[in-house]
Amino acid sequence: MQSLTVSSHQEGVVPQIDQLVNRIATPEQRSEFLDKADSLPRVQLDQRTTSDLEMIAIGGFSPVIGFMEQADYETVVEDMRLSNSQPWSIPITLSVEEAVAEPLKEGSLVRLDDPSGRFVGVLELTQKYRYDKNREAVKVYRTDEEKHPGVQVIYNQGEINLAGPVWLLERDPHAQFPAYQIDPAASRALFAERGWKTVVGFQTRNPIHRAHEYIIKCALETVDGLFLHPLVGATKSDDIPAEVRMRCYEIMVEHYFPNDRVILAINPAAMRYAGPREAIFHALVRKNYGCTHFIVGRDHAGVGDYYGTYDAQYIFDEFKPGELGIVPMKFEHAFYCTRTQTMATSKTSPSSKEERIHLSGTKVRQMLRNGELPPPEFSRPQVAAELVRAMHD
Ligand code: ADX
Repeated sequence: MQSLTVSSHQEGVVPQIDQLVNRIATPEQRSEFLDKADSLPRVQLDQRTTSDLEMIAIGGFSPVIGFMEQADYETVVEDMRLSNSQPWSIPITLSVEEAVAEPLKEGSLVRLDDPSGRFVGVLELTQKYRYDKNREAVKVYRTDEEKHPGVQVIYNQGEINLAGPVWLLERDPHAQFPAYQIDPAASRALFAERGWKTVVGFQTRNPIHRAHEYIIKCALETVDGLFLHPLVGATKSDDIPAEVRMRCYEIMVEHYFPNDRVILAINPAAMRYAGPREAIFHALVRKNYGCTHFIVGRDHAGVGDYYGTYDAQYIFDEFKPGELGIVPMKFEHAFYCTRTQTMATSKTSPSSKEERIHLSGTKVRQMLRNGELPPPEFSRPQVAAELVRAMHD
């Protein structure tokens, strides 16, 4: 089981279950690696693997300590488990072309550069292996269609996975969000400081709208605090940029939430759009940040019509109660009900279809492009104004 390997550089640092992984190079390791910088073979990471490196290092992907070896890869793809049977639903891999992998020797160190060529990390290469792209696509994404954005990544990447523990040398500066860069150890400490025993995590990659606000507030009625945790790593090109979304979350926290019951922080990970599998993954990541509960609404992490509206909720039933270490809070499709003049779901509203206002992301993007404000039943006015402004900047 790769995630429990004791590496030569961090003897004694064997993560226990639920203990946070820390793969940020110590000052000594950092200077040792920097001394070797020019002599090490290099591999260039893309945006997604750069954020995977960061997530592993800060403990967001605990107990994973590196890019997955074949044993973990196989069981994750097949059974949503690491080879030691702990739940894990998304393979964390570094795939390269054969020509890049060929000269790299197992047992050696590899320098990892980010897309701009910065030396950001080191891989202790323990294994190189081939994998079946089609099988990964079908098992993880439930489709082999190349137009699925997650599947497209698999088909476009190399045929060989490079595996082994990693160290992070340089953080992505996240220059635009320094105040919100709260790592798992820090968020756990913050929750404890505030005396929060139960904390609900909220994943989002979209500008916050009233259905989001509604389900978050329903959850917040029953727990001590909210960890508002938007994903700011790579997203597909037509998603709203992270800096615009962050301004929307700030507006919401300032005007529409009780400030002392919310912590806003960034999730540096990349989106996979793996729907159900990604819902499990998102929950496990939030457990690492210290959350006890996790919101799963309609078509969580979905794209197009690849997944059923509630598939990302049903998948939680494939694990034993308590096994994931975090409780999913499942919500039905929320909308504005014109009859009762409130946000609701079919569980709480007597409305007919005609009395329900809900807009698709595509429709909202279209409105914004035309300079139209999404209606107040969909979006808080300050958020709508911010989105229109950003679209026309
Ligand atoms: S996601 O890719 O991160 O899931 P998004 O940011 O839109 O996309 O969703 C964040 C969370 O809110 C997810 O759990 C999603 O299921 C939920 N959600 C989004 N819109 C609705 C809605 N209208 N009703 C219920 N849940 C929703």
